Amino acid sequence: MQIAIDGPSGAGKSSVAKAVAAKLGIVYVDTGALYRTVGYYVRERGVKKEDTAGIVACLPHIAIEVRYENGAQHVYLNGEDLGDRIRQPEISMYASAVSAVPAVRAFLLDTQRDIAKKNHVIMDGRDIGTVILPNADVKIFLTASCEARALRRTRELAEKGIKADYADVLREMNERDHNDSHRAVAPAVAAPDAAVLDNSDLTPEQTVEAVLGLIRRKVGNVL
Ligand code: DC
Repeated sequence: MQIAIDGPSGAGKSSVAKAVAAKLGIVYVDTGALYRTVGYYVRERGVKKEDTAGIVACLPHIAIEVRYENGAQHVYLNGEDLGDRIRQPEISMYASAVSAVPAVRAFLLDTQRDIAKKNHVIMDGRDIGTVILPNADVKIFLTASCEARALRRTRELAEKGIKADYADVLREMNERDHNDSHRAVAPAVAAPDAAVLDNSDLTPEQTVEAVLGLIRRKVGNVL
């Protein structure tokens, strides 16, 4: 089983995907963490976000491994688990920048497809339904208003102990969404066969129910 959940940042993709994965007993794959890991490395090397050649030159020095430990995804960069260090707002901007580089997308393609080949998955990202798993059983494009998303992201960061101001989060989110949905390669758009779900006015629980409803409609009563 392959379930693709795409959409802009802060739409709640990861929370809903985690809950659905737990209900269905399948693996949750957070593909944004892979781009964040590349972004982290690029930043550590002192390469600028705009330096495409510098980003590409980093790739041969990056080994990424995804492991599942007690049901949670861990991404290892050259043998080291970076944990929440990849969640910093600065790394979000780097992730968005490196994700627009075609060589980075190609570099991460097999890692994503391999996980989906070996497991039943619910995978969240920007291009899962359009590029990574074009034959996914269920495709959902989860979205919400910019304000609702920025508010949620600010709270989420606060819960992780990362200080962030709502106005900064909103501005950076708009910038990142623009980059992600206007880039030439694999832009963050809904696949033609995706169900679009706007959860601006839904609670997390209602979003999970709505997503489970879409899954049931597509693949029958899986619960
Ligand atoms: O989902 P996220 O916020 O952790 O993703 C970080 C960045 O990575 C996001 O701004 C765009 C990029 N990304 C992507 O281009 N394709 C994916 N499948 C997942 C993330």
